[in-house]
Amino acid sequence: MNRIVVVGAGYVGLSVAIMLSQSNEVTILDIDDQKINAINNRKSPFVDERIDFCFNTFDLNLKATQEIGEALDSDAEIVVIALPTDYDANNKTLDTSCIDEYITEIALRCPEAYIVIKSTLPIGYINRNARNTTNQIIYCPEFLRETTALDDCLNPNRVVVGVDENDDMCKKAANHYVELIRCVSEKKDFEVFITGYLEAEAIKLFSNAYLAMRVCFFNELDNFAIINNAKSVDIINGICSDYRIGNYYNNPSFGYGGYCLPKDVKELIDCYPNSKECIFSSVVCSNKLRIDIILNDIKRHVSPNDTMGIYKLSMKKKSDNTRNSSMISLLKELVRIFGQSCIIVFDKEYDECLDLLGVEFVSDIEQFKKRADIIIANRVDEELEDSIDKVYSRDVFGLD
Ligand SMILES: NC(=O)c1ccc[n+]([C@@H]2O[C@H](COP(=O)([O-])OP(=O)(O)OC[C@H]3O[C@@H](n4cnc5c(N)ncnc54)[C@H](O)[C@@H]3O)[C@@H](O)[C@H]2O)c1
Repeated sequence: MNRIVVVGAGYVGLSVAIMLSQSNEVTILDIDDQKINAINNRKSPFVDERIDFCFNTFDLNLKATQEIGEALDSDAEIVVIALPTDYDANNKTLDTSCIDEYITEIALRCPEAYIVIKSTLPIGYINRNARNTTNQIIYCPEFLRETTALDDCLNPNRVVVGVDENDDMCKKAANHYVELIRCVSEKKDFEVFITGYLEAEAIKLFSNAYLAMRVCFFNELDNFAIINNAKSVDIINGICSDYRIGNYYNNPSFGYGGYCLPKDVKELIDCYPNSKECIFSSVVCSNKLRIDIILNDIKRHVSPNDTMGIYKLSMKKKSDNTRNSSMISLLKELVRIFGQSCIIVFDKEYDECLDLLGVEFVSDIEQFKKRADIIIANRVDEELEDSIDKVYSRDVFGLD
């Protein structure tokens, strides 16, 4: 059993903490007292069925605190950092300031501990910044999805660990961390990639940039279908039967969004000297263009005096997360064009945010379906089936 501290109780930190607390002593540190209370009362602070199940079923060795002294002076052996790294548009890079501060704190308070960074980093960060403070550091980027955060942690398809390849102690720490994960994960036969720091940082950003590019590819295909009045499902099925392309992650949407894809693509663009010409700049443009194409298409479907119903502000089924949601971008544009009085929003998670752009929230799904003349949905859930004639969506597979 290891004594582990996890800093940051978000999607990544909480999932990692729960996973590791099955057979380690884990303390989770966060500045948000509501999250701390929720975790100590074994309630998930966000929608995640697997976290609810684990909290209700297992006796986890996990406590949450806001006190840095309580967490970091506890002779911790491993400190996992899962802090936010938002994109800073002024400095044109991910903001790592809170990670910088914690690395200094950890090196002072528990110098024996190994630091495992899970946060997404700018390429070159560890060699450029972190290694000035400590050598006891490895980078293990996270690839989980927000609606299935704990499930993805427990079933990784690969584990990447960035190390100093000339430092045997560092490589030993990486292998130790991989074995800790294997011990508590459900999937044991995941691939392991031990690489240099820079390569691990690049793996994380290029993975998300590929996913964003793929979303844009199928949305571009769907733009073509909209403009030419063609069936995108037939085109997609036809091309995705080619095993090099693959029949997955190909469902048209209103655009990519969420916490990671937008910022990771931007971070990668800024790594290129001729950034305007790189493929990732086109990905950002394509994602903006997508909203315009959808708006124009919606305009064709709306009649004067229609009430437009926005079905959920999150982009994915079963998600309560609206960070950088393309539904919110679309809603803002609809309000700008049509005004707020002809728009209603259904979202169970947001029925209290009545001031969002001045639009009316309707918390009862039956009322919502009755009142809306057209229902705009990024993803079509079963509860819309009886009103499918009113639904405007580009979801062709009923998947995220
Ligand atoms: N969300 C994802 O799907 C995902 C997937 C892979 C990687 N990541 C990366 O992991 C990192 C964390 O992402 P997340 O989604 O878990 O973020 P999050 O916003 O859900 O959680 C971050 C947590 O850190 C806490 N926090 C902020 N400042 C703090 C401080 N100074 N001290 C202690 N706690 C503090 C916040 O209160 C919050 O609970 C980011 O770098 C992100 O890019 C996220």
